Order: sequence, then C-alpha cells, then structure tokens
Amino acid sequence: RGAVRAGAATSRLLVNYQEPYRSQILDYLFKPNFGASLHILKVEIGGDGQSTDGTEPSHMHYANDENYFRGYEWWLMKEAKKRNPKIKLIGLPWTFPAWIGKGENWPYDYPDVTAYYIVSWILGAKQYHDLDIDYVGIWNERAFSSKYIKLLRYTLDKHDLQQVRIIASDRLWEPISFVLLLDSELRGVVDVIGAHYPGTKTVPNALLTKKKLWSSEDYSTFNDEVGAGCWARILNQNYVNGNMTSTIAWNLVASYYEELPFGRCGLMTAQQPWSGHYKVEAPIWITAHTTQFTQPGWSYLQVDGHLQGGGSFVALTDGLGNLTIIIETMTHNRSQCIRPPLPHFSVTPQRATFYLKGSFYMVETLKVWHSRLGFESGNSSLFQQLHPVWKGSFSLDLNMNEVYTLTTLKTGQKCGYPEPPPPQPFPSNYKDDFNIRNPPFSEAPNFADQTGVFEYFINASDPGDHVFTLRQVVVQRPITWASDADQTISLIGNFQWVNMTVTCDIYIEKQRDGGVFIAGRVDNGGIYVRRTKGVFFWVFADGTYRVTGDLAGEEILMKGLSGVRDNAWHTLTLNIQGTSTSGLLNGYPLWENVTISEPTNGWAAIGTRSFEFAQFDNFHVEAS
Ligand code: GAL
Ligand code: CA
Repeated sequence: RGAVRAGAATSRLLVNYQEPYRSQILDYLFKPNFGASLHILKVEIGGDGQSTDGTEPSHMHYANDENYFRGYEWWLMKEAKKRNPKIKLIGLPWTFPAWIGKGENWPYDYPDVTAYYIVSWILGAKQYHDLDIDYVGIWNERAFSSKYIKLLRYTLDKHDLQQVRIIASDRLWEPISFVLLLDSELRGVVDVIGAHYPGTKTVPNALLTKKKLWSSEDYSTFNDEVGAGCWARILNQNYVNGNMTSTIAWNLVASYYEELPFGRCGLMTAQQPWSGHYKVEAPIWITAHTTQFTQPGWSYLQVDGHLQGGGSFVALTDGLGNLTIIIETMTHNRSQCIRPPLPHFSVTPQRATFYLKGSFYMVETLKVWHSRLGFESGNSSLFQQLHPVWKGSFSLDLNMNEVYTLTTLKTGQKCGYPEPPPPQPFPSNYKDDFNIRNPPFSEAPNFADQTGVFEYFINASDPGDHVFTLRQVVVQRPITWASDADQTISLIGNFQWVNMTVTCDIYIEKQRDGGVFIAGRVDNGGIYVRRTKGVFFWVFADGTYRVTGDLAGEEILMKGLSGVRDNAWHTLTLNIQGTSTSGLLNGYPLWENVTISEPTNGWAAIGTRSFEFAQFDNFHVEAS
C-alpha cells in the first residue's frame, strides 16, 4: 500500500492554473503509470477555520445551511477519480463551524450533531459529485471521543454507508491503541489506527489491537532532495520498523504562497497560477518507485527488511504471482524529515543478494527502476529504468542514497510534459471586480483566506454597481484547530511587495461595531495569523477610522472620524511608499503622512473587524 496526501488549505492556488498546465500537474499526481500515481487522496472536510495555510469553507456554515459546491476539494477529488477511478478517498476535519459546538470550542458535546455534520459531507459527496468516500477520520491531531466514534459508525450505517471505514485518531499511537484494547465496542467500529509522524515506529498496544496501522500523516518536509530522501526512507521503513501499510504525505502539492508556514512542503510545487510555472520535484519520482508497482490490496511479504549495511527493503505481492521489491539506502543527514528527530544510524556501500524462493522461484526476470539523489552535486538521477535482473537469485551493488524497484510489472513509465512557462512574480497591477455569474469555484482567484471565508456573492436587489461582490461569511468563531485571529483576513499578491496602492469598495453589514479593513505589507498568515503585522486601514460602522500596524488592532498609528456607515458602499484607498502611508475615502484624502518602519514588505489583504458579514468589490492593487 502506498502513498499520498492531505488537506489544510494547501491546494488553494492550484485551481487557478490555466490549461494545459493544470491538467499536467494533476496527471503528474494522479494518472496511473505516469508520475506519482497516487493510491489515496486525503482531503480536508472544510470547517471554516485555519488549518495550517488557510481556511477551507464548510459545507454548512450555519445550522440551516447546506452547500456542496464550496472550496476546491470536490473538484480535486473528481479530477483524481477521473484519472484513477480506483483511488481511495479519505476525509478528515481540522476545524468545525461554531454551531456544531453550540458556543463551546469543542465538537463532542453534541456528538449527534457532529456525526450528522460529517455524514452529511459524505452523503453530499455522493449526491452532488458521485464521489464515494472510502475512509473518514475524527479530528486532526486533537482529542477523540469514543462515544462520538461509535455514534459516527451508527450514523454512517443508518445512511447505508457501511462501506465507509473509520480511521482513528490521526494523532499519536496512544491513547487510541490503549482505549481500543479496553473497549471492544470501539474496537468493532475503528478500522484503521492512523498515527502522525510516527518516526517509522509503532507501539506494542497498537500491534496488539491487530488493526491496520497507517502513518496517516507524514513527510511535511521541504521538497528538495533531502525531502525526497525523507520520503524514500519513511515509505519503506514505516512498514519495516512500524508495520504500517500506508503512508500519507502532507501535503499533496505545494499550491499556497511560499511564505506561508511550511512553504514547499508538498510532493511537488505549483504555487504560480499567474505564470503557469510549476515544478515536478524529486519526491514525485520517489513516490513512483512504490505507487507504480503496487496497488491497494497488495500485501507485504513478512521479511526482515533491514539491510546489513544500512537501509531497507520491502517486498509486496498481489497474490497472483506479481512481485515488487523496493530498496532504499538513505543516509542519516540526507533523509531527515521535519519531525520527529532522527536517531543516528549509518549506511555504507554494500552488495545485497536476494534469493527468490517458493512461488517466486518461477519469476523469470525483474524490471529494475533506479533513483540516486545527488544533493549539491546536482547529478540526481530519478526513476530511470536499468537492465533487468534474472531468475532465482541476484546481487546488487548498492550505493548510498539510492532507491531501487525490482518488479515483475512491465507497466512502469516515467512520463512528462514539455517544460512549463518560466516563473514570474505575481502581477504588479492586479484587479478583480468579482463580476462572474456562475463561478467554477466559490472563492475568487488568488485570495488566500487566513481567518474567515470569503465567497462570491450576488446582491440580487442592488441597483447596479455591486451586484457581484466578495463576501465574508463566517459570523461566529469556528471550533478552531489553530489560533485563528479574532478578525477575518484574506491575503493576496506578492510577499516581496514594498510600495503599493490598494483600493477596494467596501460594504459593512454589521451595525454599530462592524468594521472592515484593507491592508498592505501583510507579513504573516496560516497558523501564525494572530500575530500578523502590516499597515491596516480600518473603517467602522460608528463613523470612525483607524490605521494600525497589526491585524489585532493594538498598535494604533492614527485614528479619527470618517463618516463611513454600515449598509452603504465606500471606496478605501491605502497608499504605502517607503516609510510613509496615507489613506483616501471615496477618492478624497482622509489621513496622510503616517510613518511606518515595519514590516518592510508583504502581501495585500482585505478583512473584517470580527466574525461578521461584509462585502468587497473592485479590488485593485498596484505594487512594486
Ligand atoms: C501537521 C498538521 C498539518 C500541518 C503539518 C505541518 O501536524 O496536521 O496540517 O500543519 O503538521 O508540518
Ligand atoms: Ca462587482
């Protein structure tokens, strides 16, 4: 069983690639015998909260709300299925909309509500997208509740979703393993124990449960050759040391602004829809060594997969005579993952001899696929076919930092497309009027929501100018996974921008204490969104304005009266040049010559003072 991917707002920019590049990227990821040929796609069940590099919208923002066309995960699952109908789908929530907890920051007080919410997502996947979800998780890297898990199973079954399997608990091996041993009813409903970043090891209790063991989130490492080394090592050793039969990479493809947390921690990079540039990184070809030559349903042969000179091998069969052996010889300092710390070990050049016995004695030849990670020498060789080996027994001279696949399968292919366009910075003059009647996605291109959710909106009754707008729609703090800000914010542009003019029409919907901002030099996001600094120009429904140096609004640089009121459109303009900034309201100067020193650069942004409705239109940024 092989590899894979997880959500957390990491595919945000992918959707906006022009063809043919978007399809090319998807082919590298999902098309069988092409590139990574992934076996599993794990997606986030959006919950309106910050999940690492942004927020993903919920299918139920409010208790009486249901919409299965938000965000990009439906689209991504369909694109994956189109290419590989056998791909397994997993859904897992990081956050939940507030109503699930009836005011508490906790999803288990009303487990029936939470189960209903999750099962609705699975039913919606089928009803609106014809997607069969294979596995569902509990709550990413947070507590589980046995009562909830049982109720989830009950609710799935009641809706005829017996085939949907449950993974628990997407955190550590314990306490889930211990609890499973004690509680036979729970043992009856959990199908897979999923641990995160297990460091290739498991624990005795997990083995005692006799459950399938998976590394249900792993990798999260910068996708250079060391990242590829990490991935090669854990793909093998998660089984060799820890009996895990599946390893899921966070994340699938680095399609978020690189300066957000964990930039480029995806199997490949596609973070520039505006240029079409993307990069097939080494981890894609490391993945292919396993995924192109095994399938879900294959089983690992029970052998000690430690090589004498260091490194490891695994052997898998389909039970029908096919055999695949994958060997890796990653060295310690060339294969470190982001976590956990890697205990020392050594790997030396060695000659390894394999004897094929029993039914595999009949195997005539094995195809050989090879990669060598070259590191700073730059002479990596990735996923190349070598001469086959013959019958019975064979020896290989293994060097350090190599991967070999030996296989009876003849279907392996290293495919490719012509080089995509070269990289380009985000356009320095960028406009969006949000005038689109049937948008393919609920979110406007390139806006990366970091707290709250910004969606296309139609004002059916508007006399003309603002029929189509962008609206912030999260009105209560969600059940959080990270430290979401108390304000909402969506980022856009280039983190390197220094001087800029940001203009946007704004519409405050909340009376009295409602408020919105536009901003520049915004320096943070993702799980760090609470400490975001920048230049923020706010207007409030009470007729005042402020200029602050932070999203929290604590560092006040200027304030006064503006005459702005709720439920009316106004145009805000923010000008940042060097150490000076000024603001205009409806084209007239409102404040000027406010001095700023930090931050020196950053994105543009829009947002609201609290979790409240507000609209934005005719966004325009000109920067340098
Ligand atoms: C995991 C988490 C992911 C991402 C990753 C970064 O713990 O589930 O969403 O934050 O860490 O390494
Ligand atoms: Ca508009």
